Amino acid sequence: MTWRATALTLFPDMFPGPLGQSLAGRALEQGLWSVEARNLRDHGIGRHRVVDDTPFGGGAGMVMRPDVVSAAIRDVGRAGRPLVYPTPRGRPLRQDDVRRYAAGPGLVLLCGRYEGIDERVLEAEQVEQVSIGDYILSGGEMAALVLLDSCVRLIPGVMGSEASGTEESFSDGLLEYPHYTKPASWEGRDVPDILLSGHHAAIAGWRQTESETATRMRRPDLWAAHLARTGQDTGGPVSLAADPERLH
Ligand code: ADE
Repeated sequence: MTWRATALTLFPDMFPGPLGQSLAGRALEQGLWSVEARNLRDHGIGRHRVVDDTPFGGGAGMVMRPDVVSAAIRDVGRAGRPLVYPTPRGRPLRQDDVRRYAAGPGLVLLCGRYEGIDERVLEAEQVEQVSIGDYILSGGEMAALVLLDSCVRLIPGVMGSEASGTEESFSDGLLEYPHYTKPASWEGRDVPDILLSGHHAAIAGWRQTESETATRMRRPDLWAAHLARTGQDTGGPVSLAADPERLH
Protein backbone atom coordinates (compact mmCIF):
# COMPACT_ATOMS: atom_id res chain seq x y z
CA MET A 1 0.00 0.00 0.00
CA THR A 2 1.32 3.41 -0.98
CA TRP A 3 1.78 6.16 1.63
CA ARG A 4 0.10 9.16 -0.03
CA ALA A 5 1.00 12.83 0.32
CA THR A 6 -1.01 15.67 -1.20
CA ALA A 7 0.37 19.21 -1.04
CA LEU A 8 -1.92 22.21 -1.48
CA THR A 9 0.38 25.00 -2.59
CA LEU A 10 0.83 28.04 -4.80
CA PHE A 11 4.15 26.53 -5.92
CA PRO A 12 3.43 22.95 -7.06
CA ASP A 13 6.80 22.77 -8.85
CA MET A 14 8.50 22.71 -5.44
CA PHE A 15 7.34 19.06 -5.09
CA PRO A 16 8.87 16.52 -4.84
CA GLY A 17 11.96 18.77 -5.09
CA PRO A 18 14.79 17.26 -3.05
CA LEU A 19 12.60 14.27 -2.21
CA GLY A 20 12.98 13.14 -5.82
CA GLN A 21 16.63 12.33 -4.98
CA SER A 22 18.47 9.76 -2.92
CA LEU A 23 16.56 7.24 -0.79
CA ALA A 24 13.24 9.10 -0.87
CA GLY A 25 13.52 9.47 -4.65
CA ARG A 26 14.15 5.77 -5.16
CA ALA A 27 11.23 4.91 -2.87
CA LEU A 28 9.06 7.32 -4.89
CA GLU A 29 10.03 5.51 -8.11
CA GLN A 30 9.31 2.18 -6.45
CA GLY A 31 5.83 3.38 -5.48
CA LEU A 32 6.43 3.06 -1.73
CA TRP A 33 5.06 6.57 -1.40
CA SER A 34 3.55 9.21 -3.71
CA VAL A 35 3.19 12.98 -3.70
CA GLU A 36 0.68 15.04 -5.64
CA ALA A 37 0.94 18.84 -5.62
CA ARG A 38 -2.29 20.76 -6.25
CA ASN A 39 -2.29 24.44 -7.08
CA LEU A 40 -4.32 26.55 -4.65
CA ARG A 41 -4.64 29.11 -7.42
CA ASP A 42 -7.04 26.72 -9.24
CA HIS A 43 -9.58 27.75 -6.59
CA GLY A 44 -8.74 31.47 -6.79
CA ILE A 45 -11.45 34.07 -7.25
CA GLY A 46 -12.28 35.69 -10.60
CA ARG A 47 -10.30 36.08 -13.78
CA HIS A 48 -7.13 36.84 -11.83
CA ARG A 49 -7.58 33.78 -9.58
CA VAL A 50 -7.05 35.85 -6.43
CA VAL A 51 -6.15 33.77 -3.35
CA ASP A 52 -5.37 36.44 -0.75
CA ASP A 53 -6.48 39.79 0.62
CA THR A 54 -5.50 42.45 3.14
CA PRO A 55 -5.85 41.62 6.84
CA PHE A 56 -8.88 42.88 8.79
CA GLY A 57 -7.57 45.10 11.57
CA GLY A 58 -4.75 46.34 9.38
CA GLY A 59 -1.10 45.45 9.34
CA ALA A 60 1.50 44.32 6.86
CA GLY A 61 1.18 41.52 4.35
CA MET A 62 -1.67 39.55 2.88
CA VAL A 63 -3.81 36.72 4.25
CA MET A 64 -5.01 33.69 2.30
CA ARG A 65 -8.81 33.72 1.91
CA PRO A 66 -10.84 31.06 3.74
CA ASP A 67 -13.20 30.42 0.80
CA VAL A 68 -10.27 29.68 -1.52
CA VAL A 69 -8.43 27.48 0.95
CA SER A 70 -11.55 25.55 1.99
CA ALA A 71 -12.48 24.88 -1.65
CA ALA A 72 -9.00 23.41 -2.20
CA ILE A 73 -9.25 21.29 0.97
CA ARG A 74 -12.75 20.00 0.12
CA ASP A 75 -11.62 19.05 -3.37
CA VAL A 76 -9.08 16.58 -1.94
CA GLY A 77 -10.10 13.07 -0.93
CA ARG A 78 -8.60 13.03 2.55
CA ALA A 79 -9.22 9.29 3.01
CA GLY A 80 -8.40 9.37 6.70
CA ARG A 81 -5.23 11.40 6.26
CA PRO A 82 -4.41 14.16 8.76
CA LEU A 83 -4.50 17.67 7.34
CA VAL A 84 -1.35 19.48 8.46
CA TYR A 85 -0.58 23.18 8.11
CA PRO A 86 3.12 23.93 8.65
CA THR A 87 3.37 27.24 10.49
CA PRO A 88 5.67 28.80 13.09
CA ARG A 89 2.49 29.16 15.23
CA GLY A 90 2.07 25.38 15.37
CA ARG A 91 3.06 22.95 18.08
CA PRO A 92 6.66 21.79 17.66
CA LEU A 93 7.01 18.70 15.48
CA ARG A 94 8.45 15.75 17.43
CA GLN A 95 9.63 12.33 16.36
CA ASP A 96 6.52 10.85 18.03
CA ASP A 97 4.32 12.85 15.62
CA VAL A 98 6.45 11.74 12.69
CA ARG A 99 6.04 8.11 13.73
CA ARG A 100 2.28 8.54 13.97
CA TYR A 101 2.05 10.21 10.56
CA ALA A 102 4.31 7.61 8.92
CA ALA A 103 2.21 4.76 10.34
CA GLY A 104 -0.99 6.19 8.84
CA PRO A 105 -2.23 6.36 5.23
CA GLY A 106 -0.37 9.62 4.44
CA LEU A 107 -0.76 13.38 4.84
CA VAL A 108 -2.48 16.36 3.26
CA LEU A 109 -0.18 19.38 3.61
CA LEU A 110 -1.57 22.88 3.42
CA CYS A 111 1.23 25.25 2.44
CA GLY A 112 0.74 28.90 3.30
CA ARG A 113 2.45 31.94 1.82
CA TYR A 114 2.09 35.60 2.78
CA GLU A 115 1.24 36.38 6.42
CA GLY A 116 -0.81 33.22 6.85
CA ILE A 117 -4.22 31.68 6.37
CA ASP A 118 -7.57 33.02 7.64
CA GLU A 119 -8.08 31.43 11.08
CA ARG A 120 -11.70 30.38 10.41
CA VAL A 121 -10.78 27.77 7.81
CA LEU A 122 -8.19 26.28 10.16
CA GLU A 123 -10.92 25.82 12.78
CA ALA A 124 -13.59 24.61 10.35
CA GLU A 125 -11.41 21.95 8.72
CA GLN A 126 -9.70 20.60 11.88
CA VAL A 127 -6.27 21.53 10.65
CA GLU A 128 -3.24 20.39 12.68
CA GLN A 129 -0.79 23.28 12.97
CA VAL A 130 2.82 22.14 13.21
CA SER A 131 6.09 24.07 13.46
CA ILE A 132 9.45 22.66 12.39
CA GLY A 133 11.37 25.13 14.54
CA ASP A 134 11.53 28.59 16.06
CA TYR A 135 12.47 30.50 12.93
CA ILE A 136 10.49 31.88 10.01
CA LEU A 137 10.54 30.43 6.51
CA SER A 138 9.11 32.33 3.54
CA GLY A 139 6.37 29.76 3.09
CA GLY A 140 5.16 26.36 4.20
CA GLU A 141 6.58 24.37 1.26
CA MET A 142 10.08 23.86 2.69
CA ALA A 143 8.60 22.89 6.05
CA ALA A 144 6.23 20.45 4.27
CA LEU A 145 9.24 18.89 2.51
CA VAL A 146 11.07 18.54 5.82
CA LEU A 147 8.02 16.91 7.39
CA LEU A 148 7.61 14.57 4.41
CA ASP A 149 11.28 13.57 4.52
CA SER A 150 11.00 12.66 8.19
CA CYS A 151 7.94 10.48 7.47
CA VAL A 152 9.12 8.86 4.25
CA ARG A 153 12.34 7.51 5.79
CA LEU A 154 10.19 5.56 8.28
CA ILE A 155 8.06 3.85 5.62
CA PRO A 156 9.02 0.16 5.61
CA GLY A 157 11.47 -0.60 2.80
CA VAL A 158 12.59 3.00 2.23
CA MET A 159 15.81 2.78 4.21
CA GLY A 160 17.88 -0.26 4.97
CA SER A 161 18.80 -1.15 8.50
CA GLU A 162 20.33 2.32 9.10
CA ALA A 163 16.97 3.93 9.80
CA SER A 164 16.00 1.77 12.74
CA GLY A 165 19.34 2.48 14.44
CA THR A 166 19.14 6.26 14.38
CA GLU A 167 15.45 6.13 15.18
CA GLU A 168 16.05 4.14 18.33
CA SER A 169 18.76 6.45 19.55
CA PHE A 170 16.41 9.42 19.31
CA SER A 171 13.43 7.58 20.68
CA ASP A 172 15.16 7.08 24.03
CA GLY A 173 15.02 10.86 24.24
CA LEU A 174 18.78 11.48 24.10
CA LEU A 175 20.94 13.00 21.38
CA GLU A 176 23.19 10.59 19.53
CA TYR A 177 26.77 9.88 20.56
CA PRO A 178 29.55 11.16 18.22
CA HIS A 179 30.76 9.05 15.29
CA TYR A 180 34.30 8.38 14.01
CA THR A 181 35.81 6.52 11.05
CA LYS A 182 39.22 6.11 9.38
CA PRO A 183 41.84 7.46 9.56
CA ALA A 184 42.34 6.79 13.28
CA SER A 185 44.56 9.88 13.42
CA TRP A 186 43.70 12.96 11.37
CA GLU A 187 45.44 16.32 11.51
CA GLY A 188 46.66 15.62 15.02
CA ARG A 189 43.25 14.51 16.26
CA ASP A 190 42.89 10.91 17.41
CA VAL A 191 39.79 8.77 17.60
CA PRO A 192 39.00 8.05 21.29
CA ASP A 193 41.08 4.98 22.32
CA ILE A 194 38.09 3.13 23.70
CA LEU A 195 36.54 2.86 20.22
CA LEU A 196 39.64 0.96 19.05
CA SER A 197 39.69 -1.32 22.12
CA GLY A 198 37.23 -3.96 20.92
CA HIS A 199 35.52 -3.95 24.35
CA HIS A 200 31.90 -3.81 23.30
CA ALA A 201 30.45 -3.26 26.77
CA ALA A 202 32.93 -0.45 27.48
CA ILE A 203 32.16 1.15 24.11
CA ALA A 204 28.42 1.00 24.79
CA GLY A 205 29.01 2.64 28.19
CA TRP A 206 31.17 5.38 26.66
CA ARG A 207 28.54 6.08 23.99
CA GLN A 208 25.80 6.28 26.61
CA THR A 209 27.83 8.81 28.62
CA GLU A 210 28.55 10.87 25.49
CA SER A 211 24.83 10.87 24.63
CA GLU A 212 23.94 12.01 28.11
CA THR A 213 26.60 14.75 28.17
CA ALA A 214 25.58 16.13 24.77
CA THR A 215 21.91 16.13 25.78
CA ARG A 216 22.59 17.79 29.15
CA MET A 217 24.75 20.53 27.62
CA ARG A 218 22.88 21.25 24.41
CA ARG A 219 19.29 20.34 25.15
CA PRO A 220 18.37 20.96 28.78
CA ASP A 221 14.72 20.53 27.75
CA LEU A 222 15.31 16.96 26.52
CA TRP A 223 17.57 16.23 29.49
CA ALA A 224 14.91 17.26 32.01
CA ALA A 225 12.35 15.08 30.22
CA HIS A 226 14.81 12.16 30.20
CA LEU A 227 15.44 12.51 33.94
CA ALA A 228 11.73 12.69 34.64
CA ARG A 229 11.09 9.61 32.50
CA THR A 230 13.86 7.55 34.05
CA GLY A 231 12.74 8.58 37.54
CA GLN A 232 15.89 10.47 38.42
CA ASP A 233 16.02 13.67 40.43
CA THR A 234 16.02 16.66 38.10
CA GLY A 235 18.22 18.50 40.63
CA GLY A 236 16.93 21.88 39.55
CA PRO A 237 18.21 23.85 36.57
CA VAL A 238 21.01 22.28 34.57
CA SER A 239 24.39 23.96 34.94
CA LEU A 240 26.03 24.70 31.63
CA ALA A 241 29.11 25.94 33.46
CA ALA A 242 30.25 22.40 34.30
CA ASP A 243 32.52 22.09 31.26
CA PRO A 244 31.43 24.50 28.55
CA GLU A 245 34.46 23.76 26.35
CA ARG A 246 33.69 20.06 26.12
CA LEU A 247 31.10 20.43 23.42
CA HIS A 248 31.41 22.48 20.30
N1 ADE B 1 6.34 28.20 7.76
C1 ADE B 1 7.14 29.24 7.92
N2 ADE B 1 7.99 29.03 8.92
C2 ADE B 1 7.71 27.80 9.41
C3 ADE B 1 8.23 27.02 10.46
N3 ADE B 1 9.23 27.43 11.24
N4 ADE B 1 7.68 25.80 10.69
C4 ADE B 1 6.68 25.38 9.92
N5 ADE B 1 6.15 26.06 8.93
C5 ADE B 1 6.66 27.27 8.66
